[in-house]
Amino acid sequence: TRHYIITLLPDDGIGPEVISVAKNVLQLTGSLEGIEFGFKEMPVGGAALDLTGVPLPEETLLAAKQSDAVLLGAIGGYKWDKNQKHFKPEIGLLQLREGLKVFANLRPACVLPQLVDASTLKKEVAEGVDLMVVRELTGGIYFGKPRGFGTNENGDEIGFNTEVYATYEIDRIARVAFETARKRGRKLCSVDKANVLEASMLWRQRVMAISSEYPDVELSHMYVDNAAMQLVCNPKQFDTIITNNIFGDILSDEASMITGSIGLLPSASLGEAGPGLFEPIHGSAPDIAGQDKANPLATVLSAAMLLKYGLGEEKASQRIETAVLDTLNRGFRTGDIYSEGNKLVGCKDMGEEVLNSISPKIPAA
Ligand code: NAD
Ligand code: IPM
Ligand code: MN
Repeated sequence: TRHYIITLLPDDGIGPEVISVAKNVLQLTGSLEGIEFGFKEMPVGGAALDLTGVPLPEETLLAAKQSDAVLLGAIGGYKWDKNQKHFKPEIGLLQLREGLKVFANLRPACVLPQLVDASTLKKEVAEGVDLMVVRELTGGIYFGKPRGFGTNENGDEIGFNTEVYATYEIDRIARVAFETARKRGRKLCSVDKANVLEASMLWRQRVMAISSEYPDVELSHMYVDNAAMQLVCNPKQFDTIITNNIFGDILSDEASMITGSIGLLPSASLGEAGPGLFEPIHGSAPDIAGQDKANPLATVLSAAMLLKYGLGEEKASQRIETAVLDTLNRGFRTGDIYSEGNKLVGCKDMGEEVLNSISPKIPAA
């Protein structure tokens, strides 16, 4: 049997609910595939603040670094929203991404045939959408300096941030995006704001330069405002999208709604070496936390990405994806994707049904 250490970071809001489902799914899948998981649960975000006073304790980062892969639920919540900037749960997640050097964030958005009706877009617009957002994750305005609070010449209080990219940061994310596009539809659209921002002008220039290494991938460029519009107008035109940290954050939430719910979309964050970080793209959903209403499928599919991209366990990964489709085929839906004629279930029962799809329980005679 193969043995892997997985750091689990359940944390805030619906995080623990969806991680508990994903953990069971990993365990059962592993048992059928000759894989043994050692799970180590550590605090990050709000839970870590309450426990230790900081959003990313050293022990958590160390455990993450020493494991084979990291699976995170979600961080954040009303309780910590008024905290000073260094004591916000979100900082913990940013420090974790930075600490693990996971600069490439893959966010697939696929409209499943079973869920076309759950899309807010017309059937003919949503049907068949299959795109991948490659989001730069450890640079740009999230990390750029200078940043802070201050006063301007009129004595007004100001808050400021810096959008900055160096060539090496653009080149490495561009290579990941071209490689990703190469394995998909060989079409890459780079989304930027090169008509206004210097950081985007350099971005476009470097993406074009790197494209000479990938003559088999068709490259196009689009301004982000147009891209936001095109995503809801004609999403099928996109195959692979490469974009910066903040545009990728926004566009991936937008893309999620095409597929029916943000509760469906997984992500993989990868670096050049070391463990990857896997997490749903949604947040802690404080409005439904603790009510057994969360859709666990984004996290279950993140576990599938963990197996595929993090551990190279393609077969086990495929098993989970197939089980998710089977569960949907059998009509089970959480509230966010429910429509008439289906079976409405909570987070826990959705998890049980995915387990049933992986390994059907034989009813007692
Ligand atoms: P959110 O993604 O938490 O929620 C947005 C909406 O989507 C809510 O109505 C929520 O109920 C719904 N939703 C999200 N996930 C769902 C799921 N799995 N099933 C069903 N419905 C789901 O975004 P928000 O409300 O803007 O942020 C809430 C908190 O989460 C904030 O503190 C924010 O900073 C944090 N956040 C964390 C992450 C992360 O951990 N990666 C991502 C985004 C936001
Ligand atoms: C996400 C989240 C995070 C981000 C926040 C919570 C720091 O929105 O993972 O999409 O902006 O990257
Ligand atoms: Mn986001």
